[in-house]
Amino acid sequence: MVTILGIESSCDDTSAAVIRDGVILSNVIAGQAVHERYGGVVPELASRAHQQNIIPVVHDALKQAGVSKEELSAVAFTRGPGLLGSLLVGTSFAKGFSSALNIPMIEVNHLQAHVLAHFIKEDESDTDQPSFPFLCLLVSGGNSQIILVKSYSEMEIIGQTIDDAAGEAFDKCAKVMGLGYPGGPVVDRLAKLGDPDRFTFSKPNIAGYDYSFSGLKTSFLYFLRDELKNDSDFIENNKNDLCASLQKTIVNILMNKLYHASKDLKIKEVAVAGGVSANSALRSAFEDYSRRYGWIIHIPKFAYTTDNAAMVAITGYHKYLDKQFCGPEVVPYARVSI
Ligand code: KG4
Repeated sequence: MVTILGIESSCDDTSAAVIRDGVILSNVIAGQAVHERYGGVVPELASRAHQQNIIPVVHDALKQAGVSKEELSAVAFTRGPGLLGSLLVGTSFAKGFSSALNIPMIEVNHLQAHVLAHFIKEDESDTDQPSFPFLCLLVSGGNSQIILVKSYSEMEIIGQTIDDAAGEAFDKCAKVMGLGYPGGPVVDRLAKLGDPDRFTFSKPNIAGYDYSFSGLKTSFLYFLRDELKNDSDFIENNKNDLCASLQKTIVNILMNKLYHASKDLKIKEVAVAGGVSANSALRSAFEDYSRRYGWIIHIPKFAYTTDNAAMVAITGYHKYLDKQFCGPEVVPYARVSI
């Protein structure tokens, strides 16, 4: 029996989870409301909040799982990428905890963890996991990548954004419309009430499987600037249609490259991960492509779309089986590829 405690503290969510033999026992997440009034994550405040949250969150995760500290096989923690001060809290906690319990420590790449979230079993009979190789569209506030996943540890980025990430495109355009931060979920909600074909925005023309979203952001901004000259209430009067049209454009851009990658590589098993995978239009597009092109799709549960420790624990579990441990000299890294 292998029981892993996962710790996630890369940005503004403090999370701890327990996974036993691949099955989720608990996943506790403490968000940080302190950033809302600043319109974005303030790194210094994030690390302080992690310091306050980490012990109660771990305590709750163990309690909900019905697991004692002594039953843990290892502690897995996010080493990076992320905010350095935030990562330091999780890393230092993992060091202290593993040393006190005399159990191994496992470092986890946050991006790999997003991909491997698809292997979390809800219970022992859950067999709905991807088979290798598969493609994973990883879309978040900081990343837009198409990843060829060959095994639990072998992943190759075959396409990625050359400028903004898809989540950034949602958030920046939402900010221009005065929708607050993060704007992605708000755009999603308002888009349900709007007409996705009302407006058209520029789509990038980038070679291969790479993405670009900065042109769309500029086109959106200029379009609003021009319309506001004629009607100062343009945004207010057309908010739902603007959100629906913007969302449709972003989803089309994402799906188009993914479709070509799937076709060229002849891989029909396709997954989506990261914060933007919560988007309802993106989820519908996956279902549509599954019907049209016979894709076998993997869409994460909402709890695994944003930052969470369950994905860190499952990654830790597979690394544990591979005996990939790290020593106490390990330090977090702010930037690292998959
Ligand atoms: O993976 P994630 O939680 O962390 C970061 O990478 O920071 O992703 C957050 C991103 C934000 O840009 C947020 O606006 C976006 O995911 N997001 C959404 C939705 N839910 C979260 N974007 C569009 N529609 C959503 N429903």
